[in-house]
Amino acid sequence: MLIEIAPSVLSADFGRLREQVEEVRAVGAHVIHIDVMDGHFVPPLSMGPPVCRALRGMGLHLEVHLMVDRPERQIESFAQAGADTIIVHAEATPNVHYALQAIREAGCLAGLAVNPATPLGIFAEADVDVALCMSVNPGWGGQAFIPQSLDRIARLRAIIGQEPVLEVDGGVDSATAGACVAAGATRLVAGTAVFGAPDPAAAFTQLEAAAEAGHAARS
Ligand code: DX5
Ligand code: ZN
Repeated sequence: MLIEIAPSVLSADFGRLREQVEEVRAVGAHVIHIDVMDGHFVPPLSMGPPVCRALRGMGLHLEVHLMVDRPERQIESFAQAGADTIIVHAEATPNVHYALQAIREAGCLAGLAVNPATPLGIFAEADVDVALCMSVNPGWGGQAFIPQSLDRIARLRAIIGQEPVLEVDGGVDSATAGACVAAGATRLVAGTAVFGAPDPAAAFTQLEAAAEAGHAARS
C-alpha cells in the first residue's frame, strides 16, 4: 500500500486505548498519529509522553504531532517514550532547523507542519522526512476540511519532490481522502472518520479504499 492512513488517537476512547488501536492494527494500520496540545500554541490540552509510551510494543509506527510552543523542549521526552516520527510546527519555534536536527539526533524521523495560512516556502529551506499540510486549523478534531488545502498539497508536493511523506491532517474522510491523494498526499491522518465511527476497523478499511481510488486517479 503506497498510501497510508494514520488514525489519530485524539478521537479514541481513552478508557480502552490499546484495544481500539489494536482494532485498526489488525486490519492493516501501521502508523498511529498522536496529537499533543499544550494550551498555548492551541487552546486545548490533550496528551503527553505517557500516552505514547502506552502504545509502545504493538509493532506500530508512532507519529507524534507536536502542537506546542517551543517544541524543541519536548523532543527528548517523546523520543524516550517511543516516538518514531516527531512533527513540529513551523509557527511554534524560531528554531526550525535546530528542532529538525534535534529530532534526528534523538533517533526519530523529522516532520514539519504548517497551518492553513502559513506560506509553504519554508519547505524549500528545510530537509524533512514528513511534510504535514494542515487542512483545518489545529486544536480540535471533527472540523470540516478546508477546500483550498488541495491546491496547497499540490504546491507542497512540487516543492518537496517525490521522496518525503506528504501528510494531510484535518477533516479527512471518505469524501475528501481521494482528492488529497490525487493532489499528491501519501499519508492521511484521520481521527473522527476512524475512531469516531461505530466500527473503527471497518471505517479504516473504507478510508483506505477511498484513498486508493485517489491514487488510481493520479497515476
Ligand atoms: C487537529 C489534529 C488532528 C485531528 C484530526 O488539531 O492535529 O490530527 O485529530 O481530527 P479529524 O480527523 O477529526 O479532523
Ligand atoms: Zn494531528
